[in-house]
Amino acid sequence: MPAPPPFPLLPPGFRFGTSTASYQIEGAAREDGRGPSIWDTFAHEPGRIADGTTGDVACDHYHRFEEDVALMAELGTGGYRFSISWPRVVPTGSGKVNEQGLAFYDRLVDTLLEHGQQPMATLYHWDLPQALEDDGGWLNPATVERFAEYAAVVGERLADRVEHWIPVNEPNVASLLGYGMGIHAPGKRLLFDALWTSHHLLLAHGRAAIELRRAGATSIGCANNHAPVWPASDDPADVGASKLFDAVWNGMFLEPMLLGRYPADLAPLMEDIMQPGDLATIRQPLDFYGVNYYNPMKVAAAGEDAELPWENRDVVGHPTTDLGWPIVPDALREWLVMFRARFRAALPPIVITESGCAFNTGPDEHGVVDDQARIDYLRGHVNAVSEAIVRGVDVRGYYCWSLLDNFEWAEGLSQRFGLVHVDHETLQRTPKKSFHWYADLIRAQPQHL
Ligand code: NOJ
Repeated sequence: MPAPPPFPLLPPGFRFGTSTASYQIEGAAREDGRGPSIWDTFAHEPGRIADGTTGDVACDHYHRFEEDVALMAELGTGGYRFSISWPRVVPTGSGKVNEQGLAFYDRLVDTLLEHGQQPMATLYHWDLPQALEDDGGWLNPATVERFAEYAAVVGERLADRVEHWIPVNEPNVASLLGYGMGIHAPGKRLLFDALWTSHHLLLAHGRAAIELRRAGATSIGCANNHAPVWPASDDPADVGASKLFDAVWNGMFLEPMLLGRYPADLAPLMEDIMQPGDLATIRQPLDFYGVNYYNPMKVAAAGEDAELPWENRDVVGHPTTDLGWPIVPDALREWLVMFRARFRAALPPIVITESGCAFNTGPDEHGVVDDQARIDYLRGHVNAVSEAIVRGVDVRGYYCWSLLDNFEWAEGLSQRFGLVHVDHETLQRTPKKSFHWYADLIRAQPQHL
């Protein structure tokens, strides 16, 4: 028997990349005309962020992007997913466009292309201009119109050079954690009333896709967070609660985008929120379907007086990351296979737009960051993708979250997802062992793009 190859091998043309987001890496929060976003406000409120940090400086990528793009070139990736900060481009969310903000992304895109990194740009990775939140944020349908205007501005400027576009990153997290549970900005705890924001974020996806295409964009997708949802037991109450949670977390976002309808369990709740024609606006043709995958979730029925009908339980029997998230690569393969089986012709090619893990290993006395656990995580998940491909799922790329240790939202700077270690005092970048492993993985491919 020949020895198995040392690295998972993906089909020719498969794209490896890395992924980041503006508020998490850029810093320069008050420079060159950038306006405040809901994350600036939220992070500065005492008690919101686990370690009390903010994204004011983050990785200072705004000033160090050339160094960061050089790291990508060293890694040998073919693509880079980043997000554009809405308040850098339109500081108050409406009206005047900030030329200095657009110029930054112009320079970034050109530098990426010079270094063989095909740009994949996200328009909204959660940094809503604060001025729009002051008018109701994603609860207000006018925000959708402002987003479409912003999409048109960015598309006209960059669609000639940006290969792939994603209007909205993880609308489920933005809506449910930001407006439903109050864990993310803007910190509202509206429970089921947050469904208004889910609908508006979906509409924002559709309206922006239309504007981007009008501006010449040729590859438009999404980046939806998906988690397999497992019932805590076979008790019908737990099975029912897990189905409902699955509809809220997964179905509510993928069904409107792919099929132009809400999951049957939720449709009655959405009736009051929708206007005629909304579902057709949301269901735009997609050139790829981006999946952000981290872990499966376990759900049980909640007790009588609980605020919500489900309760999250720990997935036990698997190793966990430093954030306590269970590591189950098989669940990614199974989910992809199920996804294809359910949606078949409605499904465009899939790209894993995020996959990664928090391990907080720092440099040893020789300056080496030996993050073997991240290598194991990445190997397992890239392998799961290759197994899904063998089973007929059309997956075209894998973008590791993240290039750099960065500002992990409510966890602040305390959780490290990067292939590159960032010293948050000196801002020095140190490629970790996983960086070199990812580079070797890419080099081992028969033909990578
Ligand atoms: C998904 C989000 O898009 C990203 O911003 C975040 O850092 C990772 N998940 C890890 O939590």
